[in-house]
Amino acid sequence: MSNLFDGKVVIVTGAGGSIGRAAALGFAAEGGRVTVADINADAAAETVELIRKAGGQAMMCAGDLSLAKDVSSLVDATIKQFGQLDCAFNNAGITHPEDGEWNETVFRKIIDVNLTSQMLCIKYEIPHMLARGCGSIVNMSSTMGIISQGDPAVTGYSTSKHAIIGLTRSAALQYAKHNIRVNALCPGVTRTPMLDAVAASSEVMRERLKNYAPLRGIAEPEEIAEAAIWLCSDKSSFVTGHALVADGGFTIQ
Ligand SMILES: NC(=O)c1ccc[n+]([C@@H]2O[C@H](COP(=O)([O-])OP(=O)(O)OC[C@H]3O[C@@H](n4cnc5c(N)ncnc54)[C@H](O)[C@@H]3O)[C@@H](O)[C@H]2O)c1
Repeated sequence: MSNLFDGKVVIVTGAGGSIGRAAALGFAAEGGRVTVADINADAAAETVELIRKAGGQAMMCAGDLSLAKDVSSLVDATIKQFGQLDCAFNNAGITHPEDGEWNETVFRKIIDVNLTSQMLCIKYEIPHMLARGCGSIVNMSSTMGIISQGDPAVTGYSTSKHAIIGLTRSAALQYAKHNIRVNALCPGVTRTPMLDAVAASSEVMRERLKNYAPLRGIAEPEEIAEAAIWLCSDKSSFVTGHALVADGGFTIQ
């Protein structure tokens, strides 16, 4: 255990998933008390268990973070349990089903879960940071938030991730004078169980992933979590409104 987040309380959304879990474990290992939020209660409970086994402090909160009532409950539960809120990694997100078509229902769902949920998180998190006179928020975007692939199968995803950077910059400017920093994180392809399954079933996909980033294949969730932890921490004290790319050089090609 180290102490970058000693005395601090952190919310991590999507913390039952790959990157969110790695980040929640990382924040807790740095002394933070962590609220593990996810729509998947079993996955969130597993993350809490892993944190406690490692000697850290965590609580879970299950809910659909595209709904204002669930985001409000998440923040209320955090304050009730831990008494304060210092940092948030708003990371929960979904991708498209592979239907390859522009589809209004899918588009609305993705905007709700990826983008509106982050607006709601900021809205409910900020008052508690204002009360403390400081705070740091990291919103999960993607390389798909700064480039596009012209692929109709990911139009909604890419739109949501571009808009998250706009949301981040707006909030960063609005709250800079209150000593609250708001940044975005833009990872490239990162290992998830789903990606492993796809790679396991296709030689073509395995080759593509091996050569994805100039630096080296794809990222491990822990490598992306480290970037989120740095952006949330006081180590990045003069960084705000930034969209940090962690993609092994993919987007500079
Ligand atoms: N894996 C990648 O290659 C990659 C690359 C760039 C950006 N990202 C982004 O990173 C974030 C985390 O992705 P991941 O790869 O860890 O995927 P993941 O599927 O492992 O994790 C996402 C988590 O979000 C949760 N979630 C989904 N909808 C929710 C909702 N409405 N309310 C609350 N929780 C909800 C899921 O249950 C899941 O646990 C996402 O925003 C994703 O877009 C991932």
